[in-house]
Amino acid sequence: MSARDGKSVGSADEREAILFDEIAQDIATQGYSIRANAIDARLMQLLSEHVVEMPSSQFKRAGIGREEDHTLEDSIRGDEICWISGECEAETAWLGWAESLQQYLNRRLFLGLFSFESHFAHYAPGDFYKKHQDAFDGDANRILSVVIYLNKQWREEDGGELIVYSKETDESLAKVIPGYGTLVIFLSEEFPHEVLPATQDRYSIAGWFRVNTSNTARVDPPK
Ligand code: OGA
Ligand code: MN
Repeated sequence: MSARDGKSVGSADEREAILFDEIAQDIATQGYSIRANAIDARLMQLLSEHVVEMPSSQFKRAGIGREEDHTLEDSIRGDEICWISGECEAETAWLGWAESLQQYLNRRLFLGLFSFESHFAHYAPGDFYKKHQDAFDGDANRILSVVIYLNKQWREEDGGELIVYSKETDESLAKVIPGYGTLVIFLSEEFPHEVLPATQDRYSIAGWFRVNTSNTARVDPPK
């Protein structure tokens, strides 16, 4: 991470331009980016307030791909999720941020990102998500994964780290503490990753930029 991380210098727009530039460089050179205090304080405030105010009935147990065996799911992931549709100020602001990043990365890196889908996630104490990939060669329409953490005053001993692995060597490349405002972005096909159990409630947003897989037989609309 650079010395600029977390410094509140310049306007919000200037800080965003610097962040987007750093993300693009990270992705171009190593395929992933981890940035502390990445997102504007107002947007972080909106999101972190919204996620704890949402009624728990809106959160549903997360699935794993097309797998419908709940016993198996329990052994792979335990989090509850709520898809983001843009129905309130916090969600609209988040989707706007993602749209700006999408446009920037398309111009800078020619990624051809076409749509964005994201959900809030809540991991209760003890919940985990075993090592997995967000996309696989062949069915690859998820190109770029994004995670932002909403946990105020997270301590190292609270656990819940995201471990990012190299697909080639299986070595651990990064261990990310899910603290407030930390942003993780990685190429969805290239980095297996896992979420370790935590001792506290752990809140995040996970999202994916996709390319358009429409063809004449099947239209794949943006969500
Ligand atoms: C996911 C995921 C990581 C995290 O939802 O696919 O890997 O740190 N989340 O919450
Ligand atoms: Mn994942």
